[in-house]
Amino acid sequence: MTYKGKLVLAYSGGLDTSVAIPWLKEQGYEVITFTADVGQPIDLEGTKAKAIKSGASKAYIADLREEFVEEFVWRSLKANAMYQGTYPLNSALSRPLIASHLVKVAEEEGAVAIAHGCTGKGQDQVRIEVCAKALNPDIVVEAPVRDWHFSRDEEIEYAEKHGIPIPVTKSSPYSIDENLWGRSIECGILEDPWEEAPSDAFKMTVDPWDAPDEPVTIEIGFEKGLPVSLNGKPMSGVALIEMLNQIAGKAGVGRIDMIEDRLVGFKSREVYECPGAVTLIGAHKALETLTLPKEVLKAKRELEVKYAELTYEGYWFSPLKDAIDAFIDKTQEVVSGVVKVRLFKGQAMVVGMKSPNALYREDLATYSHGDKFDHKSAVGFITVWGLPIKTWSQMHGKKSDQVSKAIGME
Ligand code: ARG
Repeated sequence: MTYKGKLVLAYSGGLDTSVAIPWLKEQGYEVITFTADVGQPIDLEGTKAKAIKSGASKAYIADLREEFVEEFVWRSLKANAMYQGTYPLNSALSRPLIASHLVKVAEEEGAVAIAHGCTGKGQDQVRIEVCAKALNPDIVVEAPVRDWHFSRDEEIEYAEKHGIPIPVTKSSPYSIDENLWGRSIECGILEDPWEEAPSDAFKMTVDPWDAPDEPVTIEIGFEKGLPVSLNGKPMSGVALIEMLNQIAGKAGVGRIDMIEDRLVGFKSREVYECPGAVTLIGAHKALETLTLPKEVLKAKRELEVKYAELTYEGYWFSPLKDAIDAFIDKTQEVVSGVVKVRLFKGQAMVVGMKSPNALYREDLATYSHGDKFDHKSAVGFITVWGLPIKTWSQMHGKKSDQVSKAIGME
């Protein structure tokens, strides 16, 4: 076996990425692991020890929660990004972050390659590989889990042979990916779209049915498109999301159950719980309706669809995504204010909002006294606005005659 050089492996501490260590060593690499804390439940010291025990020469652990929020989650929130209008991209957003750190550690360590534990059926492999190559076109990317073709039993046998601890607790029937922005739940019984997701699939949210009978109303303060306070109290991004996950989760907000079109060509049933994300995106979107002009809103809503697709499909570090970010940042300059949201039995309902930049003007909108709207100018406006329709009717006959004919009155 020839020595290939150092490799940096994205390490979760689970069986797959632990088995990947001796496997990659057999391919000729010295393996350094990198574990990112993005808000998932993780025993940091235990994970580090397990990496070394499994044969890694060095194990990095990094708390990336703040960077995750500031550079990825907040951009996505400003874009109201939801893939297929439904999935807040919680898993997808962490991949470019992880890829960027794998590349960074590889460069610092003089490594020739990086590796991940993704399978060949999902988009996580695509995201990590495309993002890594965008940042370092020369880096080699290894995907042991995609390449080793082990059955579950063979994998366990291989693990035992290499002294890798096999989890003693009964493993979850689901494939879970979790971070601050939400939790993705796949596999097991969920693979049958007719089966309702069982309660053991959820951890961040209660069933709306079991949520308290009393609503909770919260106030989220936004500054240039980003949430900066909760109920009047200034908060860091990480703390604010953590707190919202709790409050909204308790009210049963943020459960998502969808059929998703995967990048690799097939449909899959995906279940998510994203209490904080769903609440914040709803509030942010509402505040935009108060502060952005109609034409900007319309153009932005179209770009938001593209933005979510780019994120889902691994194009986070791409020229188009950068250009849309610049557009979005420009729009967010005026998106400041406070949004009042009522959390109740699975719903996050916006029930009020105010902004120093509100384009809503009560003196124009009101039907009661104080009305400043010039009613007389409506007359001329309607004449001009209706002119093309009137001309068509004069040319081709009256619409009312056609309607009478259509409904058989003639
Ligand atoms: N379908 C989602 C996505 O592609 C979730 C992926 C979750 N990953 C997992 N290992 N369960 O973004």
